[in-house]
Amino acid sequence: LAESRLRAANDPARDRAAAALCEVLGRGRSLTAALDDRKQAPARDADRAFAQELAYGVMRWLPRLEVLGDALLQRPLRTRDLDVRVVVLLGLFQLIETRVPPHAVVHASVELARRTRKPWAGGLVNAVLRRWQRENWRVDDVAARGLSEDELLRVRLAHPDWLLRRLREDWPEHWESLCEANNRRPPMTVRVNGLKLERAAWMHALREVGLGGVEHPLARDAVMLEQPCAVGRLPGFEQGWVSVQDAAGQLAAALLAPEPGHRVLDACAAPGSKTCHLLERQPALAGLTALDADATRLQRLQESLTRLGLAERDGLQVRAADAGRPETWWDGRPYDRILLDVPCSATGVIRRHPDIKHLRRPDDIRQLTASQLNLLEALWPLLLPGGILLYSTCSVLRQENGGVLEEFLRRHADARSIDPARVAGACGQPWGLRAGPGRQILTGTLEMDGFYYGLLAKD
Ligand SMILES: C[S@@+](CC[C@H](N)C(=O)[O-])C[C@H]1O[C@@H](n2cnc3c(N)ncnc32)[C@H](O)[C@@H]1O
Repeated sequence: LAESRLRAANDPARDRAAAALCEVLGRGRSLTAALDDRKQAPARDADRAFAQELAYGVMRWLPRLEVLGDALLQRPLRTRDLDVRVVVLLGLFQLIETRVPPHAVVHASVELARRTRKPWAGGLVNAVLRRWQRENWRVDDVAARGLSEDELLRVRLAHPDWLLRRLREDWPEHWESLCEANNRRPPMTVRVNGLKLERAAWMHALREVGLGGVEHPLARDAVMLEQPCAVGRLPGFEQGWVSVQDAAGQLAAALLAPEPGHRVLDACAAPGSKTCHLLERQPALAGLTALDADATRLQRLQESLTRLGLAERDGLQVRAADAGRPETWWDGRPYDRILLDVPCSATGVIRRHPDIKHLRRPDDIRQLTASQLNLLEALWPLLLPGGILLYSTCSVLRQENGGVLEEFLRRHADARSIDPARVAGACGQPWGLRAGPGRQILTGTLEMDGFYYGLLAKD
């Protein structure tokens, strides 16, 4: 008994994962924020990593695990028993998706359930997980369990119904492969700082420390690592040789292509990957204003600027302000280039943030679209005639992408769209799917996040 108590009290990874999942599912907190909470993080790296694997895994497969959990339970659990529900979800996830031996999963899950201090919880969790094993349920073969068509689709593709419907409408030929891509683990991709060294030289340094990677075919500064690793292991990270950024996001600097002497506005800049890339690519700007409404997120931009050796650049201004209200921050001098990387549904980065599938609501999309259009309207007068605005999202929903740009173009006779795939020097080869006035990268294409780019030129 004493030994089992000791073991029971000593499973920091599962405790942490369960607590974080309760915060996401019960309070709508983001998974990253819930796991980042330092006060509660396990002391050992291995426990932190396992907690993360478990919590991300449950959120990735949540719609599937919920259907299966409900089908296995005799009676549905009450809302106030979310803690026990989370133990069931964690247990099923481990049985289905990990190599943890099933007997260890059941044992650890029962102990975790006991720590909820609900006397019935251990027995219930034991019964559900053993039923899964005993009846030999298989995910590929649950059709005979009396599930509805929608439930079967949720088991197979693990997306909420509303999102499945939207993706199916928007991408009738791609929606299934898109969902599958959303459920795969993303690569870790970095951006080599061209001011410090060439990509080939960094590849060499990477091999020297025994790590592998490949040059991205589309984004000229991008390297995809064979395995994700802590940034501290990347050659020259502290000296600013590289930053972590998906290849799709790295196309922004090439598409905006500011020239020496240009004044540039990065209207929604934090945490700052694109701002830094713009500065790395074009050292001779007359000015760059990086705005964000969120001062806390701007601190991360400041840290990156310092690490990359860009913080002292002449003409660089970092400001916490509402881009939609230029009267509160604009100096009245128009810009040659504007990057508008709007807040969006983030449906293109579900593979990195699987909690998005749970936290987003259909209603959000309408509100986001309205604010995207407002930002465009507010910033268009700040662009010089002959200037270019790059509109981007990490969304794969047409409403936030082509939908917003089409509406904007209808209202503005002085705005013309340019096909981003035709911009010389962006990447030298065709890319993306034509979607309204811009180009869509669907998640997983050339290992990239889902992204949308639209270029507007002002007459
Ligand atoms: C997609 S993120 C930007 C990512 C950033 N461009 C990068 O590459 O690292 C959108 C940003 O818009 C900011 N934002 C939202 N509403 C805003 C507003 N009205 N004015 C300025 N920034 C805003 C959010 O705080 C968020 O940091």
